[in-house]
Amino acid sequence: MSFSADRLLLFGATGDLAQRMLLPSLAALHADELIADDVCIVGTARSDLDDNAFRNFAREALEKYMPADRRTGMARFLNRLSYQPLDATTLGGYEALAAKVGQPERGLAIFLSTAPSLFEPTIAGLQHADLAGENVRIGLEKPLGTSLETSCEINDAVAAAFSEDRTFRIDHYLGKETVQNLLALRFANILFEPIWNATYIEHVQITVAETVGLEGRVAFYDDAGALRDMVQNHMLQLLALVCMEPPTDFDATAIRDEKVKVLRALRRVETGETVTGQYRSGAIDGQSVPGYDEELGKSSTTETFAAIKAHVDNWRWKGVPFYLRTGKRLPERVTEIVIQFRCIPHSIFGSKGAKTQPNRLVIGIQPDENVTLNVMAKVPGLGRDGIRLRQVPLNIAMPDAFSGKIRRIAYERLLLDLIEGDQTLFVRRDEVEAQWEWVDAIRANWEASDQTPKTYGAGTWGPSAAIALAERDGVSWHDE
Ligand code: BG6
Repeated sequence: MSFSADRLLLFGATGDLAQRMLLPSLAALHADELIADDVCIVGTARSDLDDNAFRNFAREALEKYMPADRRTGMARFLNRLSYQPLDATTLGGYEALAAKVGQPERGLAIFLSTAPSLFEPTIAGLQHADLAGENVRIGLEKPLGTSLETSCEINDAVAAAFSEDRTFRIDHYLGKETVQNLLALRFANILFEPIWNATYIEHVQITVAETVGLEGRVAFYDDAGALRDMVQNHMLQLLALVCMEPPTDFDATAIRDEKVKVLRALRRVETGETVTGQYRSGAIDGQSVPGYDEELGKSSTTETFAAIKAHVDNWRWKGVPFYLRTGKRLPERVTEIVIQFRCIPHSIFGSKGAKTQPNRLVIGIQPDENVTLNVMAKVPGLGRDGIRLRQVPLNIAMPDAFSGKIRRIAYERLLLDLIEGDQTLFVRRDEVEAQWEWVDAIRANWEASDQTPKTYGAGTWGPSAAIALAERDGVSWHDE
């Protein structure tokens, strides 16, 4: 379906994501003249606003969440916006919505940033008002269900109105520049691919650590937990990009075909291969913060931390453990992938008293975007009493390497791709389902073994059992 939409319809237009990410991203695309002049943006939500009130709402959001130096041409941007109030659960309001959207010249892109419980009635309403035809595509914000079963229900409801090539499932991690850079690193260089396998790689670590706690998302988070909120989507997508075979082309089908093979090759996780935690009060950056149960106002068995030892059962990754770890209220905000290479097969320096350490590649995704390869080097000196070797970093800091280039937030990229119809960075149905299948089995395992979260102090790296999970294999998490 290759059309560039000239109408964008945003559901959840007064929500938190719209304020923090969607409106600022659209305004940035407008400022950089990346969306055509005739593109109109219609917002809809339950709040009873008119066009002007919505424009004021949007202006306040931009002033709050967009750097001042990026806010150029804002008056013209706000003029693109209009608004239609809607109770998404009743068919009645959709005709007025369709009238507000009008007849697109080229096509309509819809973005659903609403609670998943509204997906089905919304799709029914869109069909009812003739807003689901061939020239309409739909973007879906997570969470897409809470299990394989509920995700299939949502996907079925969407598929009844929108074919897969018109369905754009968002995982905002795929919009992050450094995540895409992983593909460039692997497939635009000859260096890494020959050694990107079990023969040369000893293990891989993927960490997504956050310092924030519940951030007011009490009800949502307590139903979700770290496994469903972060592992099922973002972390498994990162893992798939690390593990996939080289696709034949940088296109949506080729890339997603390779990712889904990895996701389907994930081995079922056994008891003892996961650790869960829930934070208690502690301190982050010198500020004391309350525990999860205090923020929630009751006790709960939801995990705010998960560490998992995973395996990908195929030739390339035979026997290579993947240690995944994510949590809220950890000491720092960091997302990174660590590729730990094996030791050299024989050291010629042993007789000279020098020790070698295996190479390690650290791909920093946020907050610092950099790629560091640790290599062994000789410490300068005449070496009369032996040779000394030390590990030194080969460091590429992306902002320095590409200074002058704007660092775009993920939603800028994804909204533009949605408007233009490029599915490469969106998640296909079979991927989502493979992800849920693996995650559901972990949850079933927790239930069967009565595994409940261990506590950890806010500002620490999770329960000590998470350290033990890696240490048992002689592995230390990268921060230690
Ligand atoms: C969201 C999760 O998908 O990702 C949040 O629901 C989490 O709980 C967020 O905080 C993290 O995104 P980022 O881009 O800040 O790493």
